[in-house]
Amino acid sequence: MSFNRRTFLKSSAGSLGLALLPTSFKASVASDGFLEIVAGPSQQKLYSGDAPDSDLWSYNESTPGPEIRVKRGDRVKVRLVNKLEEATSIHWHGIRIANDMDGVSGLTQKAVEPGATFEYDFIVPDAGTYWYHAHNKSWNQVSRGLYGALIVEGDTSDFDTEHDRTLVLDDWRLDQSGKFDSASLGSLMDWSHGGRLGNWLTVNGKSQPSYALNAHEPYRLRLINTSNARVLELDTKQLGAKILAYDGQSLPAVTELSYQPLLLGPAQRVDLLVVPKPGVPMQLDEVSGGQAFSFASFEIVEKSDSTPPVAALTMPALILNDLPEPDFENARMFTLDMTGGAMGRMGDITYKGKKLERADFRSTRQVWAFNGVANLADAPFFSVQRNDTIILDTVNNTAFLHAMHIHGHHFRVLERSGSDLDEGKPWRDTFLIGPQQTTKIAFVADNPGKWLLHCHMLEHAAAGMNTWFEVMA
Ligand code: C2O
Ligand code: CU
Repeated sequence: MSFNRRTFLKSSAGSLGLALLPTSFKASVASDGFLEIVAGPSQQKLYSGDAPDSDLWSYNESTPGPEIRVKRGDRVKVRLVNKLEEATSIHWHGIRIANDMDGVSGLTQKAVEPGATFEYDFIVPDAGTYWYHAHNKSWNQVSRGLYGALIVEGDTSDFDTEHDRTLVLDDWRLDQSGKFDSASLGSLMDWSHGGRLGNWLTVNGKSQPSYALNAHEPYRLRLINTSNARVLELDTKQLGAKILAYDGQSLPAVTELSYQPLLLGPAQRVDLLVVPKPGVPMQLDEVSGGQAFSFASFEIVEKSDSTPPVAALTMPALILNDLPEPDFENARMFTLDMTGGAMGRMGDITYKGKKLERADFRSTRQVWAFNGVANLADAPFFSVQRNDTIILDTVNNTAFLHAMHIHGHHFRVLERSGSDLDEGKPWRDTFLIGPQQTTKIAFVADNPGKWLLHCHMLEHAAAGMNTWFEVMA
């Protein structure tokens, strides 16, 4: 059996099981108020039917790890206990956090060795859909399952938990028996092409789950793409979904997408608003395989008792966060030239201060570069004063799509290849940029420290698409 995505996906159709509602995990909180998150090996079934368990790495023995659900302004205290065989750390993706809590091994902290612990203690300034994941050898650790959702509720007028569902989406590469394929981790082919792409999708760690939703009632579906490299192509139209938020930040108004499918890149989030209609089944379809694959389905329940009329159901308000607006008059401009990869212009690549020769690629595994430099150099990409506005012009001179992420800040996406975006100038923490495209973003560098800027296709980051900038105190 050839194991391309499509045949694999087809072979398992019809094995839908009715999964339980996602329960908000009650993780163990120690007497000192720290939530304990243990990173360690675990087993989990990823494929349907009688597939064997996969050997994964996870937080508190399940992938995704415990959902952390807090309120805006709350203080989050997590004790990471490392029971893995390699060093690790946790990054709180999208949280505008104090630099020393950002969890980047080798930049903001030392990696936590096996057997050791680390205490994270920070305030969450913004409401929205975020996630946490390993940030040491992420290409390995995230692909094995080290991630979880981090949901920050607004103060009032949010959906109740029944109408607020988190869907953590992951793309796995399974072997012939339906187990996690660890043998192909680190393939140079993946690193120099589109990253590690899988052949199976899970929702909240389950294979093709089904969720019960009530007809006529509005739901917020928080979608998080935790894939190493897969840009999910989602048919949101079929769901009748409208957009509430990207990357945790609400749009100014509930927005209908004028195009399909919705692209959700690695690390990106989207909050959808859906109002199920009676008798109309709903599926979450991914269409990048050339044919629709329903990776979650929704059973629409019609309550027999007289439920409140539609109009009486409160549509939750959009919860806007207080993000600093760029000052375009006094902005500092920087250009990021992205090069390398298969079928691309290699040009010169400097790595650890040395210009790479063709023959060095195998030993260094560095094949991509930002402004000619692969991975973190001693000097930052740029260094700016606190509260400077930064305009970053990103130029993708490669043959691949990328998902660019900035730590510690959200930015407005101003334009893509010279044109405006359909959704105004949305706030994001991760943006997609297609081959030969340019994208301009702006943000206020209000958060002092050393911050990472990288491609969230984790193999690309490992293979060079990784840099840092500094905001002076
Ligand atoms: Cu989601 Cu460098 O992170
Ligand atoms: Cu990339």
